[in-house]
Amino acid sequence: MSDVIGYERVGDVAVLTVRNPPVNALSQAVRQGLWDRMDQAEADAGARAVMIVGEGRAFFAGADIKEFGKPLLAPFLPDLIHRIEASPLLVVAAMHGVSLGGGLEVALGCHYRVAVPGARVGLPEVHLGLIPGAGGTQRLPRLTGVEPALEVMTSGRHVGAQEALRLSILDAVEDGDPRTVGLAFVDGLLSRGAARRPVSALPLPEAIDWDAAFAATLAKGRGQISPAWCVRAVEAAYGGSFADGMQAERKIFMDLMETDQRQGMIHAFFSERAVSHLPELKGVAPRDVAHIAVIGGGTMGAGIATAALLSGLRVHLLEMSAEAGAAARGRIEANLAGALKRGKISADDHAAMLGDALEIVTDYAALAQVDLVIEAVFEDMAVKKEVFARLDAVCKPGCVLASNTSYLDIDEIAQATSRPGDVLGLHFFSPAHVMKLLEVVVGAQSADDVVATGFALGQRMKKISVRAGVCDGFIGNRILATYRTCADHMILDGASPFEIDAALEAFGFAMGPFAVADLAGLDIGWAVRKRKRAEGQAPSRDATYADRLCEHGHFGQKTGRGYYDYAGGARTRVPNPDVMPLIEADRARMGITPRDFAPEEIVRRYMAAMVNEAAKVVGEGIARRPLDVDMVLLFGYGFPRYRGGPLKWADMEGLPGLLDDIRRYAAEDVDFWAPAPLLEQLVAEGRCFDDLNKER
Ligand code: 3HC
Ligand code: NAI
Repeated sequence: MSDVIGYERVGDVAVLTVRNPPVNALSQAVRQGLWDRMDQAEADAGARAVMIVGEGRAFFAGADIKEFGKPLLAPFLPDLIHRIEASPLLVVAAMHGVSLGGGLEVALGCHYRVAVPGARVGLPEVHLGLIPGAGGTQRLPRLTGVEPALEVMTSGRHVGAQEALRLSILDAVEDGDPRTVGLAFVDGLLSRGAARRPVSALPLPEAIDWDAAFAATLAKGRGQISPAWCVRAVEAAYGGSFADGMQAERKIFMDLMETDQRQGMIHAFFSERAVSHLPELKGVAPRDVAHIAVIGGGTMGAGIATAALLSGLRVHLLEMSAEAGAAARGRIEANLAGALKRGKISADDHAAMLGDALEIVTDYAALAQVDLVIEAVFEDMAVKKEVFARLDAVCKPGCVLASNTSYLDIDEIAQATSRPGDVLGLHFFSPAHVMKLLEVVVGAQSADDVVATGFALGQRMKKISVRAGVCDGFIGNRILATYRTCADHMILDGASPFEIDAALEAFGFAMGPFAVADLAGLDIGWAVRKRKRAEGQAPSRDATYADRLCEHGHFGQKTGRGYYDYAGGARTRVPNPDVMPLIEADRARMGITPRDFAPEEIVRRYMAAMVNEAAKVVGEGIARRPLDVDMVLLFGYGFPRYRGGPLKWADMEGLPGLLDDIRRYAAEDVDFWAPAPLLEQLVAEGRCFDDLNKER
């Protein structure tokens, strides 16, 4: 018998120890092993109870996600759990680390559950586009009541041990080694003659208004369907026997398994982890970083300093004047007050971060001992070069010099120093202490250990770090520039910004591009357009309506008006009535007769532009793999996670059809819609983007 599940008799108790590192996923071998060990325990003379305990980091992290999308292998998890629950022996789960998804479902199939205080439980299947598929929707409500159970499964959140105890998911929480805690608990049960307590036999709690709960959950999912199906699965518990409920749950689970949403979310799960695995950095040790400097304390500098403080780093922030320094401190204080209010840090941490850990300076000499610098001054090459030359003069040898530039050439910035090998881009997203994405921009001369240091810093700050090459806008902003241009063209041709936002929000974007522009500030794009025009790089169809808005002082949310009017607050935006006349004036000036755009056409064109540019970014090596682009769009640009990312979406949509559309659009504008060579190649070879993820 395999030793994935260890077997040991301790007095009257058969102890089943799960050994499937790193997180005890319930692979076929684990399921079979548990089944066999249950048989063994039941045949073991004198055994009165079974205790299941995990070795290593977790009780069980859930079903083995790597098995999804392939034919499911027996024994199936619901059958195993039924077998455990039906055992004549008393069965106890001794839980530590995480018990998630199928892992919690195994625990719910046991007759009692004890956990250590650090344990966390949850049913996160919705994050994989699924519902709990091994009895979670049928058993959890019997312990907690319907509403708490639905909240846990539709949010997919991790529930701490004490809360799980209050919700009756756990029977006891005891401090100590899980095995010892578990054995003491089982002893207690046996000595007081406690009976088996199958959760499936507990009475159902009071029902709720299922249709209302389904509709509310569906609306909240912004297009994601699995949370709402949790409601229907729980409802099914009320339609017949326990077995009927299980069957209904399984049917929904299997139906969801066939969806693009399941594929998209599982792609996101694995890509999020794969994105920072870079073969060239294997074995490369990052440089030590304990103390950093941030240059410039505006929106980004203050956010980056906050992120650094929250991850335990010491920060020197350099501003141009004492007044600018005081304003920067004010921004950091406001950010940290938010973290304190949300319980992310303690009052002591908060005091320390604003005390010894943060120093605001105006003199470069104060930066002589820092390990790493992140520059976040104005987006102007001359200013950046001057800053880097000054850093080069004062920073100690080995100090990593990073720029947070959005678009500028890292290699040119590096040339302002005598140590281009120590220079790279660390491109954060606003607000930098909240947004999860970090682009690590690798220059032509960036040393491997400097790049490794960038990734290590990202990990310390709990960011999703993505490697990017040098080009105008790197991965994200370069692709953004293209799909925004596509949206701008659709406006000139007849769509309104409001129709475009509505179509893309219905597709699943957190916000449409014009609502995003209002949030970021219309002045940013205005400055870029002015720079490009001055450099003779004006776009072929140079609309001016957005400039007119800025000229009138309408910069978006921060001035209360942009594409939308925010008089009633950010959540109740209404279209700004000045916008359409400005657009119509542009159309008239350019001699354009506007036409209607259906929401499907808006989405198709916008996505085609995004995918085509993304394919160029991968083809040119700016992004290493398609999945890197997907993670940039997911974590930095509000792309719906349940669609996996633009290139995963493209694979599921079908590359030949997309390429046909791009070629058709190219008849209107041959330069803008020039097909990406990589896309043409993949279509010619009958392959898809995901094939490249596996190769690189
Ligand atoms: N199946 C397969 N592999 C898994 C896994 C799972 N359920 N959970 C984690 N892994 C892998 C990760 O891919 C990673 O592999 P890598 O080292 O090759 O990149 C490794 O285990 C370690 O994972 P993390 O890097 O994520 O480690 P953390 O300590 O940060 O997090 C965790 C651990 C909280 C368990 C996190 O991995 C997680 O949330 N896992 C997913 C849990 C989940 O969704 N469970 C439900 C599965 S669906 C289900 O059970 C269906 C059922 O209802 C029938
Ligand atoms: P900002 O205008 O809010 O802040 C810039 C700060 O730098 C100001 O406080 C200014 O006083 C200071 N500063 C300017 N020159 C300086 C110098 N020589 N020495 C010290 N301090 C100096 O600008 P923001 O938005 O914070 O942008 C900063 C950088 O981050 C830019 O390169 C920008 O492209 C980039 N960025 C901006 C994002 C955004 O959403 N705002 C997102 C990602 C990157």
